[in-house]
Amino acid sequence: MALVLSIANQKGGVGKTTTAINLASSLANLRNKILLIDLDYQANATSCMGINRGSYTKSVFDVFKKAANFEDILIKSNHRNIDVLPAKTMVEGVEEIIIADSNRDFILHDLLKKAKESYDYILVDCPPSLGYITTNALIASDGVIIPVQCEFLAMDGLTQLLNTIRTVQNKKKVNKEELTIFGVLLTMLDKRVNSGFQIVNEIKTYFKEKVFKTIIPRNITCSNATFYGMPVTQYSPKCKSSISYKKLAKEVVNRYEQQG
Ligand SMILES: Nc1ncnc2c1ncn2[C@@H]1O[C@H](COP(=O)(O)OP(=O)(O)O)[C@@H](O)[C@H]1O
Ligand SMILES: [Mg+2]
Repeated sequence: MALVLSIANQKGGVGKTTTAINLASSLANLRNKILLIDLDYQANATSCMGINRGSYTKSVFDVFKKAANFEDILIKSNHRNIDVLPAKTMVEGVEEIIIADSNRDFILHDLLKKAKESYDYILVDCPPSLGYITTNALIASDGVIIPVQCEFLAMDGLTQLLNTIRTVQNKKKVNKEELTIFGVLLTMLDKRVNSGFQIVNEIKTYFKEKVFKTIIPRNITCSNATFYGMPVTQYSPKCKSSISYKKLAKEVVNRYEQQG
C-alpha cells in the first residue's frame, strides 16, 4: 500500500517541483514503484519527467472535471519505476467545477483508493496556492512535506499553510484517516550566505524533529537540469544537490519505516 505524500507550500519558487521530481527519481532508484502526480498548471513536473507536452491530451485536471479516469491519463515515464499523472497548461474552469461538486475535497482521495495498491510511494506536486486543488492533495495524503527556502521571509505564509493542514486533518478524522507533517525540508541553502544559517536555526527551533537532517544546497546544476527536462539526480548524479536528494530519499524511507 502506497504512502501518499504531498509536497506543499503556497509560496512559489521554494523547490516543490524540484523536490517532487528528485525524490521520485531517488526513491525509484531504491527500487520503489512511484506514482508522481502533477497538480500545477505549469506542468513543470510532467515535463521534467521527460514527458513531451504534445504527447498527451488529457491531464489530471480532466479527472477533476469528470472527463477522464485514472487509466485514461496515466503515463509510464521513461524512468524505470515512475508513472505520472500529468498536468496540462491552459486549463480553465477547474476550480469552478470542483466547487460545484458535493464531493469536492475528496476527488483525488477517491481516485487514489485503488491506485494505492500498485505503488510504494505516491508523490503529489502541489500548485503555489491553498485552493481546492491543494486541499484535494492534502486530503488524499498520509503526510505532507513542506519545502522551505533558506532565504529571507522563509517563515512567511507558513501559518496559513499550517492552518490549512489543520483544517484538512479535521476533515480526514471523519474518515478515521490521518495527515501528518511528514517533514520540513530546507532547500536552496547558500553556504556562503550567513542569513541562510539563521533561517535554518529559526525553522529548526519552530519545527524541531520534523525538519529533515538533509538540507538541499543551492546548486546551479540543479536549475540547469530543469532546463534539460530532467531530475538533477539523472542529469548529474554526482553533483551536490543530487547527493542531497538521494540522502533525503533514504531519510524518507527511514521515517516511513519508523512510523510503522
Ligand atoms: N537546490 C537548488 N539549487 C538551485 N536552484 C534550484 C534548487 N532547487 C530549485 N531550484 C530552482 O529554483 C526554481 C524554483 O524551484 P521549483 O522547484 O520550481 O519551485 P516551486 O515548485 O516551489 O515553485 C527553479 O528554477 C529551480 O530550477
Ligand atoms: Mg512547482
